[in-house]
Amino acid sequence: MSAAREPIAVIGTGYVGLVTAAGFAELGSEVWCVDIDAAKIERLRRGEVPIYEPGLAEVLAEHGPRMHFSTDIGQALANARLLFVAVGTPPTLSGDADLTAVNAVVDEISDTGEHALVMKSTVPCGTGRSIQRTFRERGMEGMHYVSCPEFLKEGTALKDFRNPDRVVVGDNGDWAGEAVLELYAPLGAPVVRTDVSSAEMIKLAANAFLATKISFINEIANVCEETGADVIEVARGVGLDDRIGPRFLQAGIGYGGSCFTKDVSALKLLAANSGYHFQLLNAVTEVNELQKRRVVSKLQRHLGELAGKKIAMLGLAFKPETDDMRGASSLVLAARLQAEGAVVRAYDPVAADEARELMPGLEYCDSTFATLEGADAAVLVTEWKEFLGLDWGAVATTMSGNVLIDGRNALDPEAIRGAGLIYEGIGRG
Ligand code: UGA
Repeated sequence: MSAAREPIAVIGTGYVGLVTAAGFAELGSEVWCVDIDAAKIERLRRGEVPIYEPGLAEVLAEHGPRMHFSTDIGQALANARLLFVAVGTPPTLSGDADLTAVNAVVDEISDTGEHALVMKSTVPCGTGRSIQRTFRERGMEGMHYVSCPEFLKEGTALKDFRNPDRVVVGDNGDWAGEAVLELYAPLGAPVVRTDVSSAEMIKLAANAFLATKISFINEIANVCEETGADVIEVARGVGLDDRIGPRFLQAGIGYGGSCFTKDVSALKLLAANSGYHFQLLNAVTEVNELQKRRVVSKLQRHLGELAGKKIAMLGLAFKPETDDMRGASSLVLAARLQAEGAVVRAYDPVAADEARELMPGLEYCDSTFATLEGADAAVLVTEWKEFLGLDWGAVATTMSGNVLIDGRNALDPEAIRGAGLIYEGIGRG
């Protein structure tokens, strides 16, 4: 298969870039990976994997010979027609998407031969149009443009690459769009081929909708707490409606990660910059910010003043199976607990190093039971598998208090209550 596969270049070796590169290498393409971070490129050349993503190390080890790492875009241009751009677009201070890294890539492309820039980074609607204008103004007539947004989830990114719900390609109907579709063809996913602006909007709308779904179920959970209903039962009953669907209806202490917060804000501001006030998204964001703090009042209700109380945080990453701390609910929760004077002890199986840099004031422990030792209360923050089947009897004897807050509704209340602990979830009646 490899002889027939189109070689590609991937600019940016973060989560999206590296997984995309590995996925296409696995499908048989030669992949030229480029990053401005020379130290990272060196590590990749040595076979090290700079991020934690299940299965990635294995794919890189197996298909490494097809992957070439460099800091030089020129080398990538010489070897591939398609340049996938997967650089970061973090929020600016104003909340818009920061396109500095994207623009730097555009400025570095000097080749005027037949190439296409395939945008994987999440960019505001209109970015593709403006980049194409730049290429025209610079006389780069052979430079084509394709918007190909990514829908990978951290922690299951390789699985998502191999089994996409859909492949979205926004282009001008030329060879470049065809070539991108050809690359994805073996995956057999439904295709949405459309114009560049619509493809850009599909990505923002998808993330904004998923964030809305989470904030919606979190508000339902909060009402369940007032009315005695159980949000898990409610979500099951609601989600079985085909028009709604069961996924992303898990109530908890709010969504985190680099994408939802950033993309909701970027879409809201994109609308505002275009003269439209996107009211719904304000509520989605506000609900999420408040949700991250709800555990504090739950703890106060059980423990009274939190000053001097020992609180054990189980998990810190924004979700399981990742070391990513960006936007993690743990950041807000830990800060609020510390502001109340609590002593916060924490353990995460993978993200502790990242967390230590962001929250140097916490007491980090190297196991679940070390964290629970003498704790007045424990909070499940990230539903790592190793927390789900704990010996709750042993947990009860290790803690000095008896309050367990399940911030992800992932634990078995009966088993926990059976061990003599007080269980409280989010919206569980
Ligand atoms: C999200 C999207 O799901 C991907 O499709 C998209 O490609 C990606 O953003 C991106 O734009 O790069 P990701 O942020 O990796 O992926 O993780 P998710 O699985 O979506 O989870 C985000 C947050 O929502 C996590 O904190 C998770 O705990 C929370 N969540 C998720 C809930 O609170 N409830 C749910 O029911 C589902």
